[in-house]
This record gives sequence, C-alpha cells and structure tokens, in this order.
Amino acid sequence: MLIIYFDNNATTKVAEEVLEEIKPFFCELYGNPSSMHTFGGQIGIKIRQAREQIAALLGCEPSEIIFTAGGTESDNTAIMGTLAAVPNKRKIITSRVEHPAVLTVCRELENRGYTVVELSVDKQGRLDLTELENQIDDDTAVVTIMYANNETGVVFPIERIAEMVAGKGVVFHTDAVQAIGKIPLNLSESNIDLLSLSGHKLHAPKGVGILYVRKGTRLSPYMLGGHQEAGRRAGTENVPGIIGLGKACELAAKNLEEENSKVKYLRDKLEDAMLQNCPGSRLNGDKDNRLPNTTNISFEYIEGEAILLMLDKHGICASSGSACTSGSLEPSHVLRAMGVPFTAAHGSIRFSLSRYNTEKEVDYTIEKMPEIVNKLRELSPFVST
Ligand SMILES: Cc1ncc(COP(=O)(O)O)c(C=O)c1O
Repeated sequence: MLIIYFDNNATTKVAEEVLEEIKPFFCELYGNPSSMHTFGGQIGIKIRQAREQIAALLGCEPSEIIFTAGGTESDNTAIMGTLAAVPNKRKIITSRVEHPAVLTVCRELENRGYTVVELSVDKQGRLDLTELENQIDDDTAVVTIMYANNETGVVFPIERIAEMVAGKGVVFHTDAVQAIGKIPLNLSESNIDLLSLSGHKLHAPKGVGILYVRKGTRLSPYMLGGHQEAGRRAGTENVPGIIGLGKACELAAKNLEEENSKVKYLRDKLEDAMLQNCPGSRLNGDKDNRLPNTTNISFEYIEGEAILLMLDKHGICASSGSACTSGSLEPSHVLRAMGVPFTAAHGSIRFSLSRYNTEKEVDYTIEKMPEIVNKLRELSPFVST
C-alpha cells in the first residue's frame, strides 16, 4: 500500500542526498575523529565542514555549535547547563505549551526547589508578552520559550521575546526544533543565547542535533567525560549523523522558499477543504502566525484515535496530539492550555507536511476525510442524528 506521510512534525524521511553523503561513514571512513592517525583525522575535517553548513543556515559562527544527540539533549543541556553556570539564581520561566523535553525538565527542577513559571496562552495559542516581562526578576536564571509549537505550528514572536529578555540581562533559550528549515532565521541579527535543533525534523537521521551557544553565554557542560566539542559535550561524535545534519541544513537553506510556497499551498488546500467539508470541524491555533507545514483540526464529538485508525486504513499517516503524548487518551496539554473544549480536544488531528508531499496525496485525503468523519459521527454516543 502506498503511504501518504503527513506526520513530519514527528519525524521526517532522510533526504536521498543526505543518505548518499553519510553512507561511506559506516564501513569505509569509520575512524574516530579524536584519533591521532590520518584515518581518524580526515573525519574531523568532515565534521568541521558540517559545522560550517549548519552555521550557514543559522547565520552563526561554526564555533557556536555544539553537537548533541538531538532536541531532547539540547533542551536539557540548555536549561541544566545555564542553572549550573549561574547557581545563585533559582527561577526559570517557560510556557505551558512547551514540548516535554523542556516541560518535564522544568517540572523536575520545581520538585528540586527551583521556582518555575509556566506562562499561559490564549485561545489561539499566543503568549502574553506583558506577563512574561512582569515575571522576569533578579532571581531569573533562564527564560525558555519554544520558537514554534510542534502540535499547532503556532510561531511565537521569538525575536521580540529575545530582545526583551536580553534587556533584563537574563539568558534566553529557544527550542527551535520545529522551526528550523521551515521558516527563516538569522542568529547574527538576534538576541537568542541558546537554541535547540534536531536533525530528524529536517530530513537528517534521528539521534543528532545541535545546541547553539552564543559566544560569551555562560553554560556548564551537561554531559561529562571526554574532551569532545572543546570540552563542552563529552561523548564520541555521531559522525554519520553530524555529516548528515550538515548536508540536511545545506538542503534546508535551498528549499526554504519551497517550504513557504509549495508546502504552504498544499497545507492550506488540505486545511480549507477539511474545514469546509467536515461538519463540526475547527482549526486550533493562530492562523496567521503558523509554520507553513502544520495544521491542527478538531472534529467535535469524535475520538482522534478513531480518525487516525481509519486514516491508517487508507495509508494516511497523521497524528493526534504529539507523537510523544499519543498513546495516552489524555487530551493534549497544548490544546488544554489553549482552552479547547474537551469534546474538541479529544478529536484533534495534526497533519504536518513536507516538501516530499504531492497535490495528489492531498486530494486523496480531502476525498477520504469527510467519509471518515461522517461515519464516526454516526457511531458517536455524543451526537444524536
Ligand atoms: C518542539 C520539540 N522539541 C524537542 C523535541 C525532541 O527532539 P528529539 O526527538 O530530537 O529528542 C521535539 C520532538 O518531537 C519537538 O517537537
């Protein structure tokens, strides 16, 4: 069966060009970049090249990049590393809609005695910047706010936030895992101190990411051990992953325009048709400030999981809530924070597209979705027909 993959915020296909680039680094060029011999040394050159490719996409210096094992490690490092570097400060500010890679860390720190402020969002998933400004005080060690939400695609005004936080002399971290490669970003013109990126969200392999650390930002290492990454992150480098991430970032820079034209066009077509053709459907999230690839729609009075199963029968992959929270029947914490009614939050589906999707796939899904929704509505105990 043909697979129609609309779950790109969960993970993406590795680009063919990336796969070609990394193949030699498993069985031929498998040396350790820390080795003294030439065989290992040549790997170090490739890692340097990857660092430059990533820096070019982000508009930063190659030396400001630390390789990690992905978004989760980057987020953990940013928060824990900052707290360790400024031990006299005990307050963390974040938002209620962060990914668990941030939120779970913050809640654990709260258990350990830190003060954690989780900023609320409005019905469209937008932050109140005045609330943020009022919360920053002398005890604040770090503000961590995501660039774009993985479930709704809502993009926060991160540059304005970074400027505000910098003005108060506090470290600012952003989890940009969902934003990089989808919307433009230039760190050379930004006040962001720390930024997380994950390879598998932009057509590189899983298990690799980076933490951008702006020159001069105080950060203690989180992973302790060897001297890799100039002592900033111990552990033998994931060489194929890093080289793949470099190539993926080079491709992302080339394809950014396509993400904001073709991918957006397909997303809009899918979204408009569903809202029009499926009764009782509503869009979740700020329509005007969103990633170009993501739509999150609630189908009232039906279970998202039931929709997913029926989509799956047609080979269509989507997600209800985020991949990490699906599996539990709890409605998503993001939709709950936005005040989406229970009956709608339960029936929410996220479609997240990529440059590999086609109009044919979108048209097929547009054709199937009303059938699925109508069938499940007929079965719903909550709706009298
Ligand atoms: C916003 C966000 N942050 C962090 C992560 C975690 O990244 P990784 O899977 O690379 O650990 C994800 C993954 O879904 C994400 O969407």
